[in-house]
Amino acid sequence: MNLPGLIAALALSASTADAQKFEGLAMTPPMGWNSWNTFEINIDEELVLGVAKVMKESGMLDAGYNYIVLDDGWMTRERDANGDLVPDPEKFPSGMKHLADTLHQMGFKFGLYNCAGGKTCAGFPGSKGHEYQDARLYARLGIDYLKYDWCDTGTRDAQEAYTTMRDAIYAAGRPMIFSMCEWGTAKPWLWAKDTGHLWRTTGDIIDCYDCETRWSRGWKKIADFQATNEELYKAAGPGHWNDPDMMEVGNPGLTLEDNRAMFSLWCMMAAPLIAGNDVRNMKPEVLEILINKEAIAIDQDPLGKQGWRFYGDPRLEIWVRELSGGDWAVCVMNPSDEARECSVTWEHVGGLLPKKAQIRDIWQKKDLGTTDKLPTVTRKLAPHDVMMFRLNAIK
Ligand code: GAL
Repeated sequence: MNLPGLIAALALSASTADAQKFEGLAMTPPMGWNSWNTFEINIDEELVLGVAKVMKESGMLDAGYNYIVLDDGWMTRERDANGDLVPDPEKFPSGMKHLADTLHQMGFKFGLYNCAGGKTCAGFPGSKGHEYQDARLYARLGIDYLKYDWCDTGTRDAQEAYTTMRDAIYAAGRPMIFSMCEWGTAKPWLWAKDTGHLWRTTGDIIDCYDCETRWSRGWKKIADFQATNEELYKAAGPGHWNDPDMMEVGNPGLTLEDNRAMFSLWCMMAAPLIAGNDVRNMKPEVLEILINKEAIAIDQDPLGKQGWRFYGDPRLEIWVRELSGGDWAVCVMNPSDEARECSVTWEHVGGLLPKKAQIRDIWQKKDLGTTDKLPTVTRKLAPHDVMMFRLNAIK
C-alpha cells in the first residue's frame, strides 16, 4: 500500500474505532430526567442534587431513570477569554465537574444542553463554530449525554450541523448519547440513524392533553396528530429512537388518567422516558406510574420495535407493539372527554397477536388468564384513560 493509501486506511480505522465507542449506548430508549419542562432556565446545583436524591431514594434510578440532563440555562451569557463555555458559577458554585462527579458517585449519568446555532433558544452561547472545543469541554467535565437544539441556525443545513457535532463528540473521545432536537424540521428519521441516538420528531410539548399554541402542543397531539411520532414507527430501532419529547407525567395540566395514558403511549412508542416533573414534590400515584416496571419493560423491550396505533376513532384507540419472544403489548384508550365502555377482541387485531397467550394487565398488575378463555376485554374507561396488556405468547 502506498503512503496516501496507508494514511487513509489509518484515518478510516481511527474513525471506525471512535464510532464504535458510541455503539451500544442507547440499545433501548434512554431514560432519565430533564430540567426544562418544569424549571426552564431556573436551574441550579441545589435543585439537581435534590432531584438526584429523590430519584435514588424513590426507586426511579433502580427503575432505569439514570440520565440527569440540564437543559438550557446552565451557562453564563458569554464565553471566556479562551472561547470556552462557562458553567454559571452562581447557579453551580461547586463547579460542573464536581456536580458530574457527585452524580456519577450516586450512580447517575449526567447530560447537558446546547444548540447548533449562534445562540441557544434562551439566548446563551450556542456551539456554531465551536463544536470541537465544546465537545472537549463536555468530555473534561465528565458529560455522558448532549441534547443539541436548533435555535438561531439561520440557513444552516441540519444534516451538516448534527454530523459536525457528532464528529466533534467522537473526536473528544468520551462516549455520550447524542440527543438531536431539531423538532423534526429536516426529517431526521430519514437520515440520522448513524448521527444521533434519538431525534425529536415535533416542536415542544406542553402539559395538556390536546391544546395547541404556535409552537407547542399537548401530549396527545405530539403522539399522533398528523405526521407526528406515531407515523414514524418504522424509523426507530436499537441505537436510534424517535423522540416525542420529554414527559409531562406529574405536571399540573394532566389528570391522573392523562398521566397513565401518556406514560402508556410513550412505552408503546419506544419513546425515551425522560421525566420532566418536579420529582421532589410528586404525588405517590405519579411515582407509581413512572416506576411501573412492567410498563417500563415494554418501553425497554430489547427487540426495539416501536408500536403504532392499529385502530383509532374519536371514542376508541387500540395501540399495538411487537415485543421480543413473540409477545405483544396492547393498549386500549378512551380518547374522548366522556367515560366510555371500551373493548378489545384479540382476534380482531389483524391476526397480529399470538394465537394463544397469557394476558397480563399492566396497570391492575394481575393475570387475567389466557386469550382463548377471555377473547374480549371490556371496561368502562374514564376520559383519556387506558388499559394496557402484555400478551405473553404460549408456544
Ligand atoms: C426548545 C426545545 C426544548 C428546550 C428549549 C430550551 O427548542 O425544543 O426542549 O430545550 O428549547 O430553550
